[in-house]
Amino acid sequence: MMEYSLPALPYDYNALEPFMDEQTLRLHHGKHHAAYVNGLNAALKKLEEARAKADFSSIRALETALAFHGSGHMLHSLFWKSMCAQKQSAEPKSGALFEAIARDFGSLESFKKQFSEAAKAVEGSGWAILVYEPEGKRLLILQVENHQKLALQGSIPLLALDVWEHAYYILYKSDRAKYIENWWNICDWSGLEKRLSAIKE
Ligand SMILES: [Fe+2]
Repeated sequence: MMEYSLPALPYDYNALEPFMDEQTLRLHHGKHHAAYVNGLNAALKKLEEARAKADFSSIRALETALAFHGSGHMLHSLFWKSMCAQKQSAEPKSGALFEAIARDFGSLESFKKQFSEAAKAVEGSGWAILVYEPEGKRLLILQVENHQKLALQGSIPLLALDVWEHAYYILYKSDRAKYIENWWNICDWSGLEKRLSAIKE
């Protein structure tokens, strides 16, 4: 199984001075981000052990750890790529990004204002992120609490099972386990395969 690894920073630790100091960057990258990478690998190993023993008594904790550390890793990797030295930072004045931001936020100024306000107003620990939403083909700004709230940021959904009661209550009443067991009979594996190969192309 492939292990996740800590990516190198795309610049020196002092490259973001004076706006982000070298000591902060060293700790943030070398300790905090590294801990998420290690936590992600540890969660995957524990899930592998659980499958080997067919013991899923800790499944909620393991899935929580997977989403938390996995999203922590993905978002930090993006965070490092979201920054550069001040002398290389130039606001777009034209081009595809400029036009997309103008289309979806009105102006670059409005985009920056909303992004800043979203970041300020995140409840507790979290992130503000700009995302591309492929169905609407648009840019959106999101707040993220912690790293995940059980979603893995940056992932492309390939298969979904709705376990809201509205998905099964009439037929299964409160027996969600039976619903899930039966759902595998109607799982579209070939559709799943097509979606997966489309991503690999
Ligand atoms: Fe962080």
